[in-house]
Amino acid sequence: MTASTSASPRNPAPTPTIVHVGLGERAYDIVIGHDVLAELGARIAALRPGARTAIVTDQSVAKHWLEPAEAALAAAGVATTRIVTGEGEAVKSYAGLEQVSEALIAAKIERNDLVIALGGGVIGDLTGFAASIVRRGVDFVQVPTTLLAQVDSSVGGKTGINSPHGKNLLGAFHQPVLVIADTQVLDTLSPRQFRAGYAEVVKYGVLGDAKFFAWLEANRAEIVNGGAAREHAIAESCRAKAAIVARDERETGDRALLNLGHTFGHALEAATGFSDRLFHGEGVSIGMVLASELSAELGMIPASDAARVAKHLADSGLPTRLQEIAGFSQEGLADADALMALMAQDKKVKRGRLTFILLKALGQAVIVNDVQPQLVRDFLARKLKA
Ligand code: GLY
Repeated sequence: MTASTSASPRNPAPTPTIVHVGLGERAYDIVIGHDVLAELGARIAALRPGARTAIVTDQSVAKHWLEPAEAALAAAGVATTRIVTGEGEAVKSYAGLEQVSEALIAAKIERNDLVIALGGGVIGDLTGFAASIVRRGVDFVQVPTTLLAQVDSSVGGKTGINSPHGKNLLGAFHQPVLVIADTQVLDTLSPRQFRAGYAEVVKYGVLGDAKFFAWLEANRAEIVNGGAAREHAIAESCRAKAAIVARDERETGDRALLNLGHTFGHALEAATGFSDRLFHGEGVSIGMVLASELSAELGMIPASDAARVAKHLADSGLPTRLQEIAGFSQEGLADADALMALMAQDKKVKRGRLTFILLKALGQAVIVNDVQPQLVRDFLARKLKA
């Protein structure tokens, strides 16, 4: 990896941080820094001279960032067209895929051209999937505009849409050719959206880097405020993800570690109808606490480590208990059997056996196949009463 870690998190970093995702012929750079959106056109022109582009974005991102993105392309002489979708998880659907794919075809985007996903995880996943199928595959650039997308979903090539049967059940591995993560664009996020993305940052510490977790405990306020600490947190997260993706692009092994907190989290998102009652990162926060507590119950880590994870997430303003979810007492949420049924639908289930990402130390996650469903059910039933 070519990434630099030398910038002091306290001083503004003068140049972008580049994290390289080492995937051979599918390798690419993640460019992280303040105002790097202004470099979008120059970087695309250098990467793919003469390419035409189409920007896919949603209405609310368009209000803030579409014109700056178009201006950056125009300044470098890169032709572009805009495709603006509706907002929210509902767009990650067959209908959303049809809209974006047809618009790309109508815009005459060809094999050598580039599709640009400008937005959060929904836009990145949907656009990447459309790019993977239009003309049997067009390259794409991720310009993530949420913290969650910058540290997780824009990196690693997972693209897709939801099925009526569940989240992300249709999709493709399609790596971007470039990721531009402008730390400044995060200033237009709501505090709740920012916190939800921060749960994924914490995840990298909990799953693989105890020192990074301790650094986050000490620097959370500065990360929220922006500047070099924010850039450092994003770069460290991207480095952690890049390293895992480089050794297991297709999730046949270690990449599953990135699902820490997601088996519980996806079930909670499904139980709340993938609505604003629970953002993805909030589900991951509660799921990460549950995974830590389950690890402690199984004697894998001390209870004090699980409590430390929960405390940092709670101090960051994230939900850590099931009871904090809006409408907790509604049917399907406060019910261990219903949550178990939802977990059985998740992709992390193999032949009826649950796979969990648990901790054998704070900073060392492990994949545990074959977790006894009854044990998890009883654990959840206790948590629902706690
Ligand atoms: N978000 C998990 C992964 O990219 O594998």
